[in-house]
Amino acid sequence: MNTQKGKALKNKAKDIIPGLSQLLSKRPDMFSPDNWPTYYKKAKGAEVWDLDNNHYLDMSISGIGANVLGYADDDVDEAVINCIRNGSSSSLNAPEDVELATLLCDLHPWADMAKFTRTGGEAMAVAVRIARSYTQKSKIAFCGYHGWHDWYLAANLSEPDALGQHLIPNLSPRGVPKELAQTAFPFHYNKLDELESILINNKGEMAAIVMEPIRNLKPQNNFLRGVRELANKHGVALIVDEISAGFRLHTGGAHLKLGLEPDIAVFSKALGNGYPIAAIIGKRDIMDSAQESFISSTMWTERVGPVAALATIKKHQELNVAEHLIRVGQQVQQGWKELASKHGLKVDVGGIEPLSHFSFLGDDSQMLKTVFTQNMLSQGVLASTLFYSMYAHTQDHISTYLKAANTAFESIANAKISNNLNSLLEGPIASTGFTRLN
Ligand SMILES: Cc1ncc(COP(=O)(O)O)c(C=O)c1O
Repeated sequence: MNTQKGKALKNKAKDIIPGLSQLLSKRPDMFSPDNWPTYYKKAKGAEVWDLDNNHYLDMSISGIGANVLGYADDDVDEAVINCIRNGSSSSLNAPEDVELATLLCDLHPWADMAKFTRTGGEAMAVAVRIARSYTQKSKIAFCGYHGWHDWYLAANLSEPDALGQHLIPNLSPRGVPKELAQTAFPFHYNKLDELESILINNKGEMAAIVMEPIRNLKPQNNFLRGVRELANKHGVALIVDEISAGFRLHTGGAHLKLGLEPDIAVFSKALGNGYPIAAIIGKRDIMDSAQESFISSTMWTERVGPVAALATIKKHQELNVAEHLIRVGQQVQQGWKELASKHGLKVDVGGIEPLSHFSFLGDDSQMLKTVFTQNMLSQGVLASTLFYSMYAHTQDHISTYLKAANTAFESIANAKISNNLNSLLEGPIASTGFTRLN
């Protein structure tokens, strides 16, 4: 397989772009540092072509969850192209903002108002600002990953890897004002007692509880009801981060399916099928306090984002996309389990079906992940230990994928038996979290 052009560009990028990519999850060192193709020339449906014209079936991160329908979706693209032809920005506002706000509030009857940004992390920063403006308090209790902004990374100021158990280990808070120490407190999903201790220890100072409604674990022991009750009891806003979970289990936030009523919910990723758009929706009194703080940005008014979101939601609803995402995710999770048992490998499988993941158990977990990725690439499949389903994933794709995974698992199992796993490695092992790249 010729990969010269991709490799040359990757080496140039390391030199001219700190950290190579704007997103940790799209860095090649997260997959197979030397082999992952890194750049694409074209993407359509569930297929990707790299710079050297190699063709892959993408059974990996699906634009890290942004492309819920598939790449270059004809209907969304047509709406966007039409919008561009009529001017994607001007001195006046886009009427689609109002249409999208109305649609999101219709889909989430507890919400009265909406604001828009263009990326997930900044939308979370807006939500936190609104909650702080509303409560006029500073401190945040949170669970899970919520982006790169100061309010969140502040958690690692007092405890070096407080965020390590919340999706990404080793996130460095360098550059975050040390004065923000003791403003963000992590708790674990399903651990209501941890949340309660934070609220009691910081009584009268808490602005918000921030969490994903669901991700790797299912809620247990009425956890979500308990969170809502604690938020009410302590007078703090409950912000639900639907950036990854939203538009996976049905058309809208996962919280609706789980019977959780937040004060604010935040969406991005799937909302625009890859076009930049994020939404903060919430109850009137809380959202209205956005007007007491200064929250404003030029590019939050361009038109492509809301147009893409409207077209995506329409298609999502009409085709019952969520049902497809769940079914495909189930098949892949089941496939991992069956292949592991067939080849005597130990794996842990988890995540809601549309955002599935597995890990090889044991000390050589990262090495096996790297070897698996390498092997899948050699069979023309982009794959790692994450699988995010898209509407574009077909039954044929699943069959092709599981056949290739069978070959990869078999090769790993044989190498394990003959104790020569190292000989399969074609380069460095994948990274586990945030590190300097060079
Ligand atoms: C739950 C959650 N919140 C926030 C973010 C940050 O969103 P973005 O990468 O668009 O800034 C992510 C991204 O992975 C996420 O999964």
